[in-house]
Amino acid sequence: MNDWEQLRKTCLHCEQCELCKTRHNVVFGDGNPHTPILLIGEGPGEQEDLTGVPFVGAAGQLLTQMLDIIDLDRSQYYITNIVKCRPPRNRDPHPNEQAACMGYLRSQVRMIRPKIIVCLGRIAAMKLIDPQYRITRQHGQWVNKGGFWMTAIYHPSALLRDVSKRPDTFDDLMSIRQKLDEVMGNQN
Ligand code: URA
Repeated sequence: MNDWEQLRKTCLHCEQCELCKTRHNVVFGDGNPHTPILLIGEGPGEQEDLTGVPFVGAAGQLLTQMLDIIDLDRSQYYITNIVKCRPPRNRDPHPNEQAACMGYLRSQVRMIRPKIIVCLGRIAAMKLIDPQYRITRQHGQWVNKGGFWMTAIYHPSALLRDVSKRPDTFDDLMSIRQKLDEVMGNQN
């Protein structure tokens, strides 16, 4: 078994925090691990918990459509979450739950070695970019941290609730496309 499969197997049996007691499935991640771009959300919702696949519910479907605008589908990126098990009633994952799960994400990042990391929403941005991150002010900005180009966009659930945020997200998506072309050496 290779390292990725070993990690996945360990994660699928994880009991390191209380979320294991209420989950139906661990949601390890989905997409292409041989990719320059990694997207990281907050934690599985109901549909993700039931299927074991990230971003398949209403917010996930919107995200898929948004990424389609910049010609990205799941064969071209990898997508996962800060916590791999659903927090009950979709509450924010507690700091101890995030901490218990970080080892899996760190290993995923180490094995994927992406060039770009996109945080989906405030929780991921605060955990991965800056604990003081203000999504309304800082979304779409790029930082180079630990050798990765990192940015955050509004969480697709926020875009479902508030359509007035969508034009900003459109600009952020264009910027992600541009950065991806840049790091891949595409000039067009
Ligand atoms: N929201 C998230 O942050 N992650 C998912 O997988 C689904 C919804």
